[in-house]
Amino acid sequence: MMSTERLAHLLLALIWIWFCSAVGYADGLENGLARTPPMGWMPFERFQCTVDCVHYPRDCISESLFKRTADLLVSEGYAAMGFQYLIIDDCWMESFRDTITQKLLPDRERFPSGMAALSHYIHGRGLKFGIYHDVGRKTCMFGGPGALGHFQLDAQTFADWGADYVKLDGCYATGYERDTGYPAFGKAMNRTGRQMVYSCSWPFYKEKPDYRLIAKHCNLWRFATDIKDSYTSVFEIMELYRRNQQQLLAHAGPGRWNDPDMLVLGNFHLSYDASRLQLAIWSVIAAPLIMTNDLETVRPEIKQLLQNREIIAINQDLLGIPGRCVRTSKHFQVWLRPVTPVNDLGRHSFAVAFVNRGNFSHCPLCPRQFQVVLEHLGLDSPTGYYVVDLFKSSRHLGMFKPNDAFSTRINPEGVTFYKFTVAPLL
Ligand code: GLA
Repeated sequence: MMSTERLAHLLLALIWIWFCSAVGYADGLENGLARTPPMGWMPFERFQCTVDCVHYPRDCISESLFKRTADLLVSEGYAAMGFQYLIIDDCWMESFRDTITQKLLPDRERFPSGMAALSHYIHGRGLKFGIYHDVGRKTCMFGGPGALGHFQLDAQTFADWGADYVKLDGCYATGYERDTGYPAFGKAMNRTGRQMVYSCSWPFYKEKPDYRLIAKHCNLWRFATDIKDSYTSVFEIMELYRRNQQQLLAHAGPGRWNDPDMLVLGNFHLSYDASRLQLAIWSVIAAPLIMTNDLETVRPEIKQLLQNREIIAINQDLLGIPGRCVRTSKHFQVWLRPVTPVNDLGRHSFAVAFVNRGNFSHCPLCPRQFQVVLEHLGLDSPTGYYVVDLFKSSRHLGMFKPNDAFSTRINPEGVTFYKFTVAPLL
């Protein structure tokens, strides 16, 4: 028999759960959002903090850039593939708050229609609207007013503008201010009653991030430095993930993701093979797929990569288990992610990426053959696996058993990427 006291506690708990879901309130992470890694577009790596619209009208951070990108996300087919969030980064605001209301103000010249109107435009295209802010005194590059001392007001301003996503940077704050500020801003967002994805740059500013705590408060978190448009930068971030993967993996899953920063595909410096590499590894580690590029000038072959249905499906896999690097050497790496379908014996399918790092003494940048017996990678389902080359969707490679050797030829500083779909029991 349950005591009256326990019954009262149970009732209170049920009322609280009902209340939280009714008003959309949740403590940090459990806001029900980002069940799969967010996908979208953000200007920062490509457009930086260009504010001179007189000399650079196409490149400056302005409402016309975001409207143009909203249109292109839809007309070029990205939105239909899942690239939903159009996120404004730094450099959107005036360098002062409204003197009477203390509210943040969008730059009058570059955002003449105001943020509510831009948000309305973005929503009208069927997309979601994201915005950047900083937990400290000033924003990182522009030095606009930070959120410190105005958490509730700023969260409410974003909610009133119809924001669906907030990226909160961590410049110009002490460690203590960040450690208290990130949870507090998340709570302020929840108190607005508007559902907004919460992207935190918190761990990036900490020597030893407490990912358990961060995952409690944020939907995604930047764990790496700002990405650059180069293979070296992509590989450095992969290495950072690999070296910390035990911890990074432990707390990521539906609603909470490791963010290695944006996809730099479609710009100036990444080769076709390095573009494939970034896309494959970001999909294996369940990273948000946030492009930073000029959608008007993305070359057709890169657009085709960005819209590869099978690879996006790996990134968005509903099990939400992020993958890891399972083999590394001077020349090769193997990255692997458990994905659906799962067979009757509970064995997973896998997405497997094979990386050629180059570094060979003879011809360092040549294609190379890599071979491995599948069970040595942990692919040990006795039923075997049907294998498809994810970069060539029509290419079925047939059935492989755990003791079969799998061989792949990989371009330098590039990747091959396969789905091993576990066979059902007969
Ligand atoms: C930091 C962030 C970047 C970008 C800039 C803007 O460097 O890590 O992603 O938001 O600030 O100032």
